[in-house]
Amino acid sequence: MAFSDQFIQELKLNNPIDSVMSGYTNLIRRGRNSVCLCPFHSEKTPSCTVYHESNSFYCFGCGAGGDVITFVMKIENLDYVEAIRFLAARAGMTMPDDDPADSRNALIKSKILEINRTAARYFYDVLTRAPEGEKGRRYFADRQLSAKTITKYGLGYAPGDWYGLTNFMRSKGYGEEELIAADLCSRGRNGGLYDRFRDRVMFPIIDLRGNVIAFGGRVIDDGKPKYLNSSDTPVFKKSMNLFSLNFAKKSEEKRLILAEGYMDVISINQAGFENVVATLGTALTQEQARLMSRYAEEIIIAYDSDGAGQKATHKAINLLSEAGLKTRIIKMEGAKDPDEYIKKFGAMRFGQLLNKSGGAIEFELSKCRNGLDISTDEGRVEYLKRCVKLFADISSPIEREVYIGRVSDETKVSKEMLFQQVNGAIKKRIDQDKKREWTDIRTFQNELRKDPDAYRHSKEYKAETGILSFLAAYPEETEYVASKISPDDFVTDFNKKVYAAILKKSKISGFYDILSLQSEFTADEMGKITEIAVNSKDVNINKTAVNDFIKFLTDRADNSQDVNALSDDDFRSYFSGLKKKK
Ligand code: UTP
Ligand code: MN
Repeated sequence: MAFSDQFIQELKLNNPIDSVMSGYTNLIRRGRNSVCLCPFHSEKTPSCTVYHESNSFYCFGCGAGGDVITFVMKIENLDYVEAIRFLAARAGMTMPDDDPADSRNALIKSKILEINRTAARYFYDVLTRAPEGEKGRRYFADRQLSAKTITKYGLGYAPGDWYGLTNFMRSKGYGEEELIAADLCSRGRNGGLYDRFRDRVMFPIIDLRGNVIAFGGRVIDDGKPKYLNSSDTPVFKKSMNLFSLNFAKKSEEKRLILAEGYMDVISINQAGFENVVATLGTALTQEQARLMSRYAEEIIIAYDSDGAGQKATHKAINLLSEAGLKTRIIKMEGAKDPDEYIKKFGAMRFGQLLNKSGGAIEFELSKCRNGLDISTDEGRVEYLKRCVKLFADISSPIEREVYIGRVSDETKVSKEMLFQQVNGAIKKRIDQDKKREWTDIRTFQNELRKDPDAYRHSKEYKAETGILSFLAAYPEETEYVASKISPDDFVTDFNKKVYAAILKKSKISGFYDILSLQSEFTADEMGKITEIAVNSKDVNINKTAVNDFIKFLTDRADNSQDVNALSDDDFRSYFSGLKKKK
């Protein structure tokens, strides 16, 4: 949908980029700009810059960039209109009247949400009152879920007859393509539709706005796979959502419990702990860690006590601390997972377990001792090596000191010796990190170079980019530039598209901001455009240079001279030749 420039300007004014971004990452003021750890890739030294003047950001590490709207699109995984709505709500502004014809995407999404809601209702009805729901009722009774819990989570049962949901949804008038898009039906070889979830108890996944965005379904016996989950759809991205966060976010607690699966979450919740979530059939992701950091300061990891669970715990600790979260880990003995623990020992004991949970270092330290006999010299050496590596990762010097003291007492190796070793390891780590970040940046630049269009026409690409940079810095010159060169004279596709968009925008409103082209470009493309705008601040391209660029491109268009065959030196002299001619 089209918003007036005035509305967009007001929206941006009411949502300064630094105040929006500081909800996701820590900004550090550096002169006119601020820097921060980039929220879009993992790094230890800040390579993301926030330009207060132009209300924009750009990450030199991963190439993400744009204005506050692009930022919200990327970080909240929203489309353009949704991002505008998000920012309008944040600033307490009223949205101009929606015109749904402009937003097919939004229409599809709302249709899928409606289908999901209807399906969830159907599964719930089958579970709670239909004769064919008996199997599901027995299953949940066996697992000791109360009627209240079943209703709270909207649990359900998908009958085993292949067409239960399909027929029901048809009778409600939903079309085949929509049902497939929602990932609730599949198309069989004979062309007809059938249910994706059959003879399974159903767990609807609900987002923070209360929408049913997907389902997990568990087998009743021991069929495979044990859990079937919706694939990603236009309304669902596994890696971005957490099961039960809709309840957990309402809890007063400043800490969240992270469990491994649906049943653990429901069990823990039923035992009286609202603040529990789980990932959706995959390992924890960076996005999910960040999501949690918006609702809590501390995460208690309550994964299974088996080997797989402990490995996953180790990975989660790292991801969570990268997101700035403190972690604690519960130590469960006598049960394989929280669900079993609560059944065996009760809610109160589980609560004690939470309160007794140790910090991440405690957890890792006890792992260092695994499989070693510390009474032997060999065992002690290996143990100390592992400890040094672990301590080098601790960012707080005080904590480091405490644990070094403890291990020194334990092994009778002097504190000084341990400090020396740990400091050496820290220095090595920093050097490695720096190297890695540089490699990241280089990979990104190579990525750019891989743009075949830019590579094949590198000179045209340079000239075009120069013109765009100039326009980013001096929008008031658009009319002048437009009179000299048309988009058709641009050679590389992306630049051509950007230039055309600028001309269109300036024709419509007489005003444009190169960073406000989101309705026509993806968030990734906006990153590239921001790079151009950022560069325009560094390399100040003047009117003479722009005229040269224009001449180069327009000459090329009506000249048969194949400038592509020129070397870099030729190119330079070609340019200086142009200058002399003037
Ligand atoms: P678990 O096998 O530990 O299941 O897998 P669970 O939650 O304890 O379930 P119950 O108690 O056996 O019923 C943990 C999580 O991993 C995902 C699910 O999200 C599950 O809750 N998973 C597991 C799958 O997505 N697919 C599978 O086949 C198995
Ligand atoms: Mn289990």
